[in-house]
Amino acid sequence: MTESITDIVTMDKIVALCKRRGFIFRSSEIYGGVASTYDYGHYGVLLKNNVKAEWWRAMLQERDDVVALDAAIIMHPRTWEASGHLAGFTDPLVDCRTCKQRFRADDLQSASCPRKPSKHPGEYAECDLTDAREFNLMFETTVGPVREAGSSVYLRPETAQGIFVNFKNVLQFSRRRPPFGIAQVGKAFRNEITPGNFVFRTREFEQMELEYFVPPDDADRWFEHWLGARRRWYTDLGIRSDHVRLREHGPDELSHYSRATSDIEYLFPIGWSELEGIANRGDYDLMRHAEFSGEKLEYVDSSTGERYVPHVIEPSAGADRSALAFLVDAYDEEEVEGERRTVLRLHPRLAPVKVAVLPLVRRDGQPELAREVYERLRTVVQAEYDEGGSIGRRYRRQDEIGTPWALTIDGQSVDDRTVTVRDRDSLAQERVAIDALAEELRRRLEAPWRTPKAQAGTSQADPTAA
Ligand code: GAP
Repeated sequence: MTESITDIVTMDKIVALCKRRGFIFRSSEIYGGVASTYDYGHYGVLLKNNVKAEWWRAMLQERDDVVALDAAIIMHPRTWEASGHLAGFTDPLVDCRTCKQRFRADDLQSASCPRKPSKHPGEYAECDLTDAREFNLMFETTVGPVREAGSSVYLRPETAQGIFVNFKNVLQFSRRRPPFGIAQVGKAFRNEITPGNFVFRTREFEQMELEYFVPPDDADRWFEHWLGARRRWYTDLGIRSDHVRLREHGPDELSHYSRATSDIEYLFPIGWSELEGIANRGDYDLMRHAEFSGEKLEYVDSSTGERYVPHVIEPSAGADRSALAFLVDAYDEEEVEGERRTVLRLHPRLAPVKVAVLPLVRRDGQPELAREVYERLRTVVQAEYDEGGSIGRRYRRQDEIGTPWALTIDGQSVDDRTVTVRDRDSLAQERVAIDALAEELRRRLEAPWRTPKAQAGTSQADPTAA
């Protein structure tokens, strides 16, 4: 094994950078915030949009067997009876009658009592814990003007069920036959009792889910296919390959619908944790929705008359959790000419801003030429114009938001219409003609990319390792 240098990234540094540079804020901060709920600012929106765009690109643009869907968040309440969520999507909880706090009964060792100094619930003589009882994680609300029996609905706890209930619609209009998939990105809601670790576990989050319908005999093969394809998606987008791993669920860990599940895990500063789950759901969902709705949910081959209920392979990822992993993996600090810089070494396609256009000084025709360059480039990529402050400070700002290229317009630019292109990672500067810039940026964005952190051999020390 190569000797590794321990990463300098911590969750606190990520939280601080996200706040400082306007990626992610606590929700409703002026009122003291809402626990485990976050708002995305400008660069956070651009980053998460890029994560979702790359997922769509891998699912739709680069395949011809997947179609898109955008189902409603509020679904018919019978959906959750059929899916098993109403009966089984629960955590065991205990309440403390003294401090009025609620804790997960199966994880008291990770919880903290609000008394000071903080101990685990149950460790103070005054702690008065109730017996454990099951608590459903779905948020319930009502539809219509009258709160009456039958008007209860739930905010969806996963996007997957919107896909299953649309199976018949999609099969009819898209003229597909298994194997084929339906992909969806959207918000999901869970009343998590032990949320935390920034956007790793929140009560409102976005999922990127594919339900891939296959002939039953092919399920194992497709399960293996998606394990490989989904792991590659993360490493192709720059995550160091020694920071992602597959972990197979043991029989006692499997969800009620699953025949086999493996998690893609990432080595977060909190230790190895789930990034995405890939499950072989068998025919559980289609059979249950057929039973509860009375609709036949099966594939019929019109030429042979063959009919069967397809099995489902489900790669289910979190957009927020992926964005967090990309941020953590990209975070770096280094010494440049006696100064410490913080830099996000994001894959250029994930970077919120692709190119910054910076006039060296605010005179001699440089701002005018810089604006002309910026206005040309912003039709091609997300670009930013900045003329305020020293050039060094402007570079540092762009480094911190992960902008891969900074263009400097100087005296020579006004004479010969060339600019210097500064590379965020290597700091190399290259002169490029203004007329060639758009093409050059397109080329660089499509080129394979590998994080310099992998080349340097830096790796996160596993905080959970003995
Ligand atoms: N349809 C299957 C399903 O929902 P899951 O493992 O419960 O499976 C899939 O969720 C992914 O959604 C997780 O791997 C994670 O990335 C994301 N996710 C789940 N709960 C989350 C939460 N409370 N906050 C942020 N992301 C979450």
